[in-house]
Amino acid sequence: MSKKTAAITAVGAYVPDFVLSNKVLETMVETNDEWITSRTGIKERRILKEEGKGTSFMAIKAAEDLINKRGIDPKEIDMLILATTTPDMPVAATGAYVASQIGAVNAFSYDLQAACSSFLYGMSTATSYIESGRYKKVIVIGADKMSSIIDYTDRTTCIIFGDGAGAALFEPSEEGLGLQDEYLRTDGIGREFLKIDAGGSILPPSEETVKNRQHFVQQDGKTVFKFAVSNMADVAEKVMQRNGLSKDDVQWLVPHQANKRIIDATANRMKLDASKVMMNIQKYGNTTSATLPLLLNDYEKQLKKGDNLVFAAFGGGFTWGAAYLKWAYNS
Ligand code: UT7
Repeated sequence: MSKKTAAITAVGAYVPDFVLSNKVLETMVETNDEWITSRTGIKERRILKEEGKGTSFMAIKAAEDLINKRGIDPKEIDMLILATTTPDMPVAATGAYVASQIGAVNAFSYDLQAACSSFLYGMSTATSYIESGRYKKVIVIGADKMSSIIDYTDRTTCIIFGDGAGAALFEPSEEGLGLQDEYLRTDGIGREFLKIDAGGSILPPSEETVKNRQHFVQQDGKTVFKFAVSNMADVAEKVMQRNGLSKDDVQWLVPHQANKRIIDATANRMKLDASKVMMNIQKYGNTTSATLPLLLNDYEKQLKKGDNLVFAAFGGGFTWGAAYLKWAYNS
């Protein structure tokens, strides 16, 4: 009997209506559409504008989209993992609120924080629970309201990030489909280069920290870029090699959407043609935990049962990794 595997059997997504274009950013900071497009590939991003709405609002919408598409009863969901860097509040798991709001009353839930690798790590966690035989329906949601932690006077970060949410349902596969392999890494050296200084246990919030704008994301872009390019390509190549995958065996690269140049470098190392590379950075920017499930949702109709997908991500921490997954359905 073949080993039980964990397959993605449905996806869903939500992005806010408000579009923040490069043209509008030109009126906010000293930048221009040409610079942003050529350095990052981003043309616009979505922003959750409504007062009082946080990451849970988008996560709930993405999960409801998935539930409606798959036609499942939320009571069947055993577990919900909310991958996010921007929980609704520092204390009280946002995932627990999301689970209750979607009617997943039999599920337990928690938040998983690994910056831009959160969803990839969540895929690994969901898969392990399913392979163990303990749970049968696990939802992983990647959701981030990056606009809540971005300084819109800092041109080096505000042009990159956007808000959004995507969700994927993991269920057992008797056909060996789903996650086949993963290679996940971390290196704490990275925390100096991409971080929010204040609001945690080292530097709790104070008038001073607010005045110094220390509750916003700070990034040494050049250094992060360098690490991202080499590490994302390394792990993607490693996953291909150890599973005996040639470029012709891979139907899709599903890369974290941080910068088109990082994505191109990863695809080049894998020798993949651009037509096999999922990309939506131009319309959403970097939505952190949401990039991978938003890609799956956007490309769902083009995916065929049995397709080989290689996921790759890199983020703050540093955290990074790659995964090899066999797609499980035609839509
Ligand atoms: O997902 C989490 C992980 N994050 C990432 O993977 C992000 C990695 N980093 C990057 O994507 C890139 O480093 C950035 C997009 C952030 C920056 O691109 P870059 O090509 O590395 O630019 P740079 O920082 O080397 O800056 C080049 C020039 C500088 O001017 P000088 O010193 O050459 O005169 C910057 O001041 O571009 C300037 N600059 C800008 N100009 C116009 C920086 N930001 C802007 C801007 N508009 N928004």
